[in-house]
Amino acid sequence: MTEITIPRPDDWHLHLRDGAMLEGVLPYSARDFARAIIMPNLVPPVVTGADAAAYRDRILAALPKDLDFTPLMTLYLTEGTDPADVASAHASGLVTAVKLYPAGATTNSHSGVRDLGKVMPVLEKMAEIGMPLCIHGEVTDPAVDIFDREAVFIDTVLDPLRARVPELRITLEHVTTSQGVDYVMGADANLAATITTHHLMINRNAILVGGIKPHYYCLPVAKRESHRLALRKAATSGDKRFFLGTDSAPHVDPLKECACGCAGIFTAINTLSCLAHVFEEEGALDHLAGFTSRNGPAWYGLPVNEAMVTLVRRETPVHWPERIFTGDGPVTVFDPLLPIHWEVA
Ligand code: NCD
Ligand code: ZN
Repeated sequence: MTEITIPRPDDWHLHLRDGAMLEGVLPYSARDFARAIIMPNLVPPVVTGADAAAYRDRILAALPKDLDFTPLMTLYLTEGTDPADVASAHASGLVTAVKLYPAGATTNSHSGVRDLGKVMPVLEKMAEIGMPLCIHGEVTDPAVDIFDREAVFIDTVLDPLRARVPELRITLEHVTTSQGVDYVMGADANLAATITTHHLMINRNAILVGGIKPHYYCLPVAKRESHRLALRKAATSGDKRFFLGTDSAPHVDPLKECACGCAGIFTAINTLSCLAHVFEEEGALDHLAGFTSRNGPAWYGLPVNEAMVTLVRRETPVHWPERIFTGDGPVTVFDPLLPIHWEVA
């Protein structure tokens, strides 16, 4: 196959940041994606409906006029979140989901949740109104090895939470382990998962072999090869519970290339090309549209985009800039480490 036409994709987990960075990165997502779930981990975070309305306005103001893109807003769950504010932001159509960051799990997560008991009224309200909870699924206990933090989260936090609030619809974000894949496959209809582009393409060797490579460092951190293979199998299987959330997370190069580099990989530019490559390798191009364009809308109760896009397989590899230049500074683009021939026509 040298050409494939799919409904215009959506990105169900995206960091757009704010200010000059937002202006620098938004055009790339808006070019290839019709909608995206916008992560709320700004400084300060997007906590209330009013915060989300203001952030959505800043995104729309930064959007180039010729691009058609709808930001789907999320609220950052804190121990002070008001269930009534969440419910009204959802009822008005302003906010699509709430994001749970265990406090300290990742970039700008210090205002996240320490004690799930304190947010039960919010979660119960969300279960009642059918509003999804997006979860960063890693424990933060310093005694737990960083490569085990997702699997331990599933056993010690996610599973008890689902037993306690079975009606709550949960998106387990950016699964990176076979345990995550197996858990979602074994669960009922109220659990789905996003998978990133980079976790389908790299394992932890990319970060650590031949010198430390900060541009492959993200959270959850890439795991060993067997986990990458499990993710590829799930993503390309056609199972409706798995769909794309790029987790494209730009940081300027000086904040990545230093003694304590930030977590995050910027993949907005080349995600569709990389995914076509992965699905072709797996002999599953017929499942690409499910992963990028159909399963996510079905989960969030939204229509599939009517516009179509065509990906074309070129004779020679396609290229992207090594880095883009934003008003905040340069941002390195994800390098998939192998030639990619697919391109959005
Ligand atoms: C994200 C960021 O930079 O905001 N980083 C990342 O490595 N994915 C936060 C997150 O989603 O964990
Ligand atoms: Zn993220």
